[in-house]
Amino acid sequence: MKLHYGNHRGGALAALFVLLLPILLPTLFTPLGHASPSILSEWNAPKPRHSRLLKSALQRQTSNAQQSDLWIPLANQGWKPCVESTTAPTLPEKSQGYIQVFLDGGLNQQRMGICDAVAVAKILNATLVIPYLEVNPVWRDSSTFMDIFDVDHFINVLKDDISIVRELPYEFSWSTREYYAAAIRATRVKTAPLHASANWYLENVLPILQSYEIAAISPFSHRLAFENLPMDIQRLRCKVNFQALVFVPHVRALGDALVSRLRYPPRKRWSTWY
Ligand SMILES: *[C@@H]1O[C@H](CO)[C@@H](O)[C@H](O)[C@H]1NC(C)=O
Repeated sequence: MKLHYGNHRGGALAALFVLLLPILLPTLFTPLGHASPSILSEWNAPKPRHSRLLKSALQRQTSNAQQSDLWIPLANQGWKPCVESTTAPTLPEKSQGYIQVFLDGGLNQQRMGICDAVAVAKILNATLVIPYLEVNPVWRDSSTFMDIFDVDHFINVLKDDISIVRELPYEFSWSTREYYAAAIRATRVKTAPLHASANWYLENVLPILQSYEIAAISPFSHRLAFENLPMDIQRLRCKVNFQALVFVPHVRALGDALVSRLRYPPRKRWSTWY
C-alpha cells in the first residue's frame, strides 16, 4: 500500500487507515495477555480431541458418596517414608555461590522443579534463591512462590541441608528474569539437558559459580535425573516434597473447606453447621 502524504485525499485516506487500524488489527492494540476475551476466546477455543470420552464423563452420574471417597486418604499399602537419613545433614563449610532457577509448567511441574532445585543446590554446595515461578500461558497464574508455599517453613525445614535466601543480596540484584531475557549472559545456564546427571551440574554449572558466584538455570523443568543420584540427594528431594513444601494457611483453609463440603454436603448437616 502506497500512501501519498502530499495531497489531501491521500492524507485523509491515511488518517482513515490509522483510525481503522485498531479494528482491522485488534491484537496490536491490546497489551499481551489481556486481549479482549471475545476475540481471543474464539481463536483459542480448545478443540475437543476426545469428545466421546468427555461426553461419557459428563453423563456419568457420580453420587455424593463416591465424590467424597475421592478425597479420603488411600489405605496404607505398606509404603514407608524414606526421608530419614542415617547420617546427620550437614551444611557446606563455604557456599560456592547462588543458584537461581526459573520454573515453567503448571504447579505440579513447578513443585517437582523446586525439589530438583534444592537437590542441585546441594550437589553444588550452593545457596538457593527461592525459585521464580513463571506465568504459565495456559493458566495465567501470576502467583509467586510465597503466595503458594510457606517460605519460612520451607527455609526452616531445610536449614541443616542447604542455605536458602528469599532474594539475592544487593550486589547480585542485577540477575533478574528481565536481564536474562534481554541478551545472552555468561551467568545463564541455558543448555541443561533433560534429566541431567549430578556430574553434568558439577562439570557445567560449578565452573560458572566459581567464576561469577552465581548461576541462573533456565529452563530448569525436568533437568535433573531420577536415576543414579546419591541416596542422600534422593532423600533430600523427598524431604522437600513431603516436609518442606506446605501451602500457605489460606490455601490450606480453602482445601479443608472443599473437603468438608464434599464429605458433609451442607443440606444434610444444615442444623449443625449453620
Ligand atoms: C561440597 O561439600 C562437601 C563437604 O563439605 C565436599 O565433600 C564436596 O566436595 C563439596 N562439593 C562441591 C562441589 O563443592
